[in-house]
Amino acid sequence: MQLKGKTALVTGGAMGVGLGVLEALADSGTKVVSLDVVEDAGQKSVAAINDKHGAGTATFMKCDVTDSKQLECCFKQAVSVLGHIDIVFNNAGLVLENKWEYMIDVNIKGVVVGTQLAVEHMRKDKGGKGGVIINTSSYAGLVPRFTFPIYVGTKYAVTGFTASWASNPYLKDMGLRFGTLCPTAVDTAFQRFKDEQLLYPKEFKEMLNNIGMLPVGKAVEGFLQIVQDDDSNGANMTITVKGISYKQLLLQEGKGLIPQ
Ligand SMILES: NC(=O)c1ccc[n+]([C@@H]2O[C@H](COP(=O)([O-])OP(=O)(O)OC[C@H]3O[C@@H](n4cnc5c(N)ncnc54)[C@H](O)[C@@H]3O)[C@@H](O)[C@H]2O)c1
Repeated sequence: MQLKGKTALVTGGAMGVGLGVLEALADSGTKVVSLDVVEDAGQKSVAAINDKHGAGTATFMKCDVTDSKQLECCFKQAVSVLGHIDIVFNNAGLVLENKWEYMIDVNIKGVVVGTQLAVEHMRKDKGGKGGVIINTSSYAGLVPRFTFPIYVGTKYAVTGFTASWASNPYLKDMGLRFGTLCPTAVDTAFQRFKDEQLLYPKEFKEMLNNIGMLPVGKAVEGFLQIVQDDDSNGANMTITVKGISYKQLLLQEGKGLIPQ
């Protein structure tokens, strides 16, 4: 997919990976809508994008992705601002083992509802124009981590949910493709957690020292690669300090996924 002239909706766009993706999309000529529960940072970041690229390039809407009605309402408003949406990035997420029910709502429910809204809007067999849906999982959505087990569970859910959509044999009729972003640790506010947000914070910090921290730009690079590659359906984009490993899953129509 060429990005120039396209449109995108990004959740969790006020900071971190979401903001990095918004900026990169705007730099590539894509009009963007940013949804986030944090209003100040969301408005400021959108204003900076519009200063750089011209008014109307970016729009911010305050939205809590755990509130399905609010998310649906913002999605509809985004459609009225952008016309058709080509790219949806369900990225809002957090680590909060001590408030795990809320974390499940953000990390799973928000992604599920965002994906459903995107599918209904984009699917060609129901009058849409097709598009690409990328959901933020994590490297911890592919491998176990005892340091934050419920978070890991939410990210496995995102990986499995997205891969299941990618294996849908009717996707060609719908004109859709799906992928997940699976970075290791990224240098964002996410990593400035309080100890109670993890089950084993000390051991988690020790692991961080071993695996290293990625700059936001690396996660953005992975996102752009996946979005621009029309053959990427079913990809889990793993991003580590060793590089971007483009793990595409072999799809057999109607028979699910066979890992490479
Ligand atoms: N930073 C990492 O180490 C890392 C690694 C792998 C995956 N991830 C995932 O990347 C995604 C982005 O995280 P980040 O690192 O940029 O962190 P971040 O904290 O910088 O950004 C997360 C954004 O999501 C927003 N958000 C949180 N709850 C929300 C809600 N209910 N409704 C709407 N917006 C909400 C926050 O306000 C924030 O702007 C998350 O899904 C996270 O789980 C992060």
